[in-house]
Amino acid sequence: MPKGLAGVSVTDTRISKSASDGSLVYRGYPIAELAANAGFEETAYLVLKGKLPTKTELGAFTKGLRSRLDVDRKVFDIMRDLGKEAHPIDVIRTSASALGSIDQEESVEGKEMSLEAKMSVLAANCLRVPRGEDPRRPKEELGFSDNLLQMLTTRKADEYERWVFERVLIFYMEHDMNASSFTVRVVASTLADPYAAAAAGLASLKGPLHGGANEEAMKMFLEVKDPAKAQEFLQSAFKQGRKVMGFGHRVYKQFDPRARLCKEYLREMLKKRRGDDSLYRLCDGIEKGMWEAKKIPPNLDYYAAPIFYLLGIDVPLYTPIFAASRVFGWMAHYNEQVEENKLIRPDAIYVGPAGLKYEPIESR
Ligand code: ACO
Repeated sequence: MPKGLAGVSVTDTRISKSASDGSLVYRGYPIAELAANAGFEETAYLVLKGKLPTKTELGAFTKGLRSRLDVDRKVFDIMRDLGKEAHPIDVIRTSASALGSIDQEESVEGKEMSLEAKMSVLAANCLRVPRGEDPRRPKEELGFSDNLLQMLTTRKADEYERWVFERVLIFYMEHDMNASSFTVRVVASTLADPYAAAAAGLASLKGPLHGGANEEAMKMFLEVKDPAKAQEFLQSAFKQGRKVMGFGHRVYKQFDPRARLCKEYLREMLKKRRGDDSLYRLCDGIEKGMWEAKKIPPNLDYYAAPIFYLLGIDVPLYTPIFAASRVFGWMAHYNEQVEENKLIRPDAIYVGPAGLKYEPIESR
């Protein structure tokens, strides 16, 4: 049996496809094509509905999201009660469940849009509200990406930086049968509601082998700091048999196309600042060392992390940002699963003992 279902196709899908040659398409469009031309809402519409929207369709979709940004005070109260020690993803997951319980939306599409809109507000507030600070509120006049960024940080980003942030969100939106989307599909196949499926997706995203890797990569950059120490750091990680966070992928073995684009954006961001580019040199140095030693390329998390850092976003918010974007992909999977539903209930090869005789507890 292939461990971790590696190489096993579990369903047909029309949503997206990544391949070992470094290609990624959303609904047939190569990721670089979307990164160069599309906005976040436009891409979200494409991922959810299977086609690029007309102006009218995009307007209605954007309006639908904007009108659902308001998060009930009760949810912020729950966040606050969890306290400052709570992990940000646990805070969002609990909040997503709470939203499901107080939700007034009637249609499944309404519930999904409510979740998609509000997840950005939860992501921006999952650190500050449990610490006792007031929630940051969205601004109805802003697009999804600008809104999320202005809630995440008080630093004012320039036009290029805002454009880059939107690209990173587009990259995080969807990625075929990743662990959290598969989790969402399993829950959807039981016909549970979208909130339940998203809460399960969030649980799956938390782990450092999946969504948690962007935070871990940034912690590594902050620990190593000096580009001259990149090789020394790698040697010590290899010696201890530690995984280097932000490297490796189940599908991409040559390169992750999203990481390549993010690397270019990072370089450009630093060039425009005309200051210290040691963060770029450090990332590049570790990447080169990793390729030389193990032929393992960096993934999206590796280059998204320094971009978020330059934008002035707190490190514990990196995985919540991933969630705020990926929820759109999760809902596309939810819908596709439900439309062609069959309960996901695989088999397992039993390799345990058989025919044992019960022994009373006193004689064990
Ligand atoms: N650092 C060091 N060695 C690694 C790394 C890494 N980051 N990734 C893989 N390897 C090695 C493994 O040790 C293993 O070596 P071995 O065959 O000698 O035992 C080999 O490469 C295969 O690795 P697996 O973990 O078995 O590959 P798998 O396809 O199961 O894992 C995964 C993919 C989980 C992403 C893995 O590469 C990893 O743990 N990376 C670090 C965490 C990370 O960056 N996750 C983000 C994924 S992308 C995303 O969610 C946006």
